[in-house]
Amino acid sequence: MSVVGAGSASLRRDILAQAGFNLDLVPAGCVVDDYQTDSLMNTVGLSFAPSGDADEHTDLWLSKCFAQLFGLPLAIPVAQGRLAEAMLSNVLAAPGDCVPGSLPFPTAAVHLARNGAVSMPMPSARSEACEPLFLGDIDTVALERFLENSGRARVPYLMLEACTNAIGGHPLSIENLRAVRSVAERYGIAVYLDATRIFSNAYLIEQRHHAESANRIAAIVLELCALVDGVWLSASKEFPVPIGGVLALRNRQVFEQCRDQALLFGTGLDVTAKHRLATVMADVPALVERVVERAHRVERFQALLEPHCEVVTPGCAHAVFLKAAAVSSHIGPDQHPHRAFLNHLYVKYGVRGALNPGASQETGEAVIRFAVPILGKDDHAIEFAAASIRAALSETHEFIALEEVNRPAGFSGALLATYRPVESIGL
Ligand SMILES: Cc1ncc(COP(=O)(O)O)c(C=O)c1O
Repeated sequence: MSVVGAGSASLRRDILAQAGFNLDLVPAGCVVDDYQTDSLMNTVGLSFAPSGDADEHTDLWLSKCFAQLFGLPLAIPVAQGRLAEAMLSNVLAAPGDCVPGSLPFPTAAVHLARNGAVSMPMPSARSEACEPLFLGDIDTVALERFLENSGRARVPYLMLEACTNAIGGHPLSIENLRAVRSVAERYGIAVYLDATRIFSNAYLIEQRHHAESANRIAAIVLELCALVDGVWLSASKEFPVPIGGVLALRNRQVFEQCRDQALLFGTGLDVTAKHRLATVMADVPALVERVVERAHRVERFQALLEPHCEVVTPGCAHAVFLKAAAVSSHIGPDQHPHRAFLNHLYVKYGVRGALNPGASQETGEAVIRFAVPILGKDDHAIEFAAASIRAALSETHEFIALEEVNRPAGFSGALLATYRPVESIGL
């Protein structure tokens, strides 16, 4: 926690106004305590430095590390998860296709759309009878019905996400993935997994399912990967790297076509970045330790908020999510009440959260996210953030309604849109 230009509430009010009341556009240096993302991509001065020299064996070393972690033999290192999503959908998806599975990360959905395909989120496998510990599980009966009706020809693959972010970071269970696999096999369809938070998912499986066993997190990751045809991930969420990712596959033909994509577009990685990725991936105990430590911090964050406001439960391992209903205010639904709450939290306390990528704005959804990166947060910061959120939620009379004034074209438009306070309209 810290920071150069975060200053006073009145300074932050000016900074926010300059950013068009879009908190995502405020520079990180102007935030006291930042939970905008768990990505380390924009973290300045990351303390981790790779040891040893990068050399021509780096690619081989990296492949071995990927194989050791994920058990998948054919891997392409990439700079970002979204590049892996693009490669896979460019190779496999065609106009008119549907890709059923979890609620996807927004960039994955857009890459499908760019190929004329659509993602088709399946309902959660929630059962009234049992405790909802694995709400990332999908309903395999609904999946089978969908495949029966749409036919195999329109479904190039299934796409699941570990710790599905859009619904609040809920994990998938091994049993559900096994059931999905068995449905997919019956229809001859491949299964791919967004493994960006697979170690967090494995931690939650260990906690919720195999509590009596010893530390099995790395083994659970391998078990999950054994059930799929490939994984991709954005490394900056669970590994201490500012950049990196991987697309790891089983099928040689798909691999070769994806490798062609890498040749066409580049991987975005230089040898130093690859070396750094290999170094952190080779140290599995340290990797597991960091993920577990972060999960404990998130549990503490959740415990500080849960008795006082509507958070998504059960809690997950990378962020705390507020439901839409947590933010009650006088502001109408078309005047951006969630953004108004986030802006108030930032101006008054210097704490930044974000609208949750991929979530819908319905009541009960995981609409606001406070993401905890694997490096850089301590208990003191978490306590400060939780107290600030609780206070800000009760200060509804101070929220300022917003009207959108400019939205650039395209997919980026929603991220770059600017606003003005409704009270200033007509001045
Ligand atoms: C679940 C998930 N998948 C994919 C991505 C895209 O990864 P990147 O930002 O490295 O392109 C992200 C990024 O936050 C993510 O959270």
